[in-house]
Amino acid sequence: MYKAGIAGATGYTGVELVQLIHRHPQLEVGWITSESSAGKCLSDVHAVPWAYPLIPLHEAYDRASEVDVVFLCLPHGHSIMAALRFSATGVRVIDLSADFRLADADSYRRWYGAEHSAPEMLPHFVYGLCEIYREQIRGAQLIANPGCYPTTVNLGLYPLAKAGWLGHHIIVDSKSGVSGAGRSTKLAYQFVEANENLTPYNVGYRHRHIGEMERVLNGVSRNGGFRFTFSPHLLPVSRGILSTMYVTVPAGVTESQIRDLYAETYAGEPFIHLLPAGQIATLRHTTYTNRCAISITPANPDQPEGQEYIIVATEDNLIKGASGQAIQNFNIAAGLDETAGLW
Ligand SMILES: NC(=O)c1ccc[n+]([C@@H]2O[C@H](COP(=O)([O-])OP(=O)(O)OC[C@H]3O[C@@H](n4cnc5c(N)ncnc54)[C@H](OP(=O)(O)O)[C@@H]3O)[C@@H](O)[C@H]2O)c1
Repeated sequence: MYKAGIAGATGYTGVELVQLIHRHPQLEVGWITSESSAGKCLSDVHAVPWAYPLIPLHEAYDRASEVDVVFLCLPHGHSIMAALRFSATGVRVIDLSADFRLADADSYRRWYGAEHSAPEMLPHFVYGLCEIYREQIRGAQLIANPGCYPTTVNLGLYPLAKAGWLGHHIIVDSKSGVSGAGRSTKLAYQFVEANENLTPYNVGYRHRHIGEMERVLNGVSRNGGFRFTFSPHLLPVSRGILSTMYVTVPAGVTESQIRDLYAETYAGEPFIHLLPAGQIATLRHTTYTNRCAISITPANPDQPEGQEYIIVATEDNLIKGASGQAIQNFNIAAGLDETAGLW
């Protein structure tokens, strides 16, 4: 049996990991951390039956040897020191924050508005988008778990980008459930503000996750240089992300060729659900699962040779967009069945 340490277990992704680990046949909880609730139990803080003691992070550093993997579920900026301390012990580290997702210090500064305090570590982290970078993830010690929005966008557009069929201007309209912001007390995320409302935020070329979309799609494409118009929205549901992507393909490429391309690219992928013609991905296709559902619709079905398509991709932001993908990464890295503990 493998053991996991979870830094930041009282947050939404942390407690989700505890739940997922409980269904995993080869992984169990070693220790879990919290700063504000250290000394209490997880069941004092969340409505779960597990009374794991919560220890402070500094105590966890001394207990790295008790676990096989540490999942960092900390706010970005706070994972850097933790990753340095844990990685120095040789334990496997899977960071759910954004601290090691970008390729270099310049990109980190551009999107996170701060200097990265350990830029020399960035190249040592594998970007853990499992369906695309599986070979690099196998055996990796350091894995940067992808962001929630980029997982939908990158999986939704990967086949087109790889084939060189993705037009340069990509319009993405995304909606996220409120848990995407973490257990925040910020006014915008409180019930009365968010409920029965739909709030765009960071519209234009501002949202930090654009850096990950550019990194992945430009990296896999022969004809990169993509330009994103990205509008995220706060949707008043607890969990789930739905991204609607408006793209163009080269003249002469037909819908059936696009469908064949997606089917071929994702053949055998346990967590990609490609919807047939006429169906559109919804949050319900993926909520409480580790799946990403993808639908492909011509922008105007009366023009079968039209070049515009609407790709919709959905996921559960706390599972495929965070903790589920982190488990998937662990499974691949440790050489286990990739689907262990996931569905
Ligand atoms: N929520 C999502 O859908 C999602 C998806 C993908 C990635 N992520 C990323 O995953 C990370 C965790 O997200 P989350 O939504 O779980 O956040 P969250 O609900 O706000 O939880 C944050 C956790 O970090 C701990 N923490 C906060 N400041 C800390 C510090 N200075 N030192 C040590 N521990 C500290 C908190 O512990 P105490 O408050 O108990 O002390 C809590 O357990 C973030 O980087 C986020 O961007 C989130």
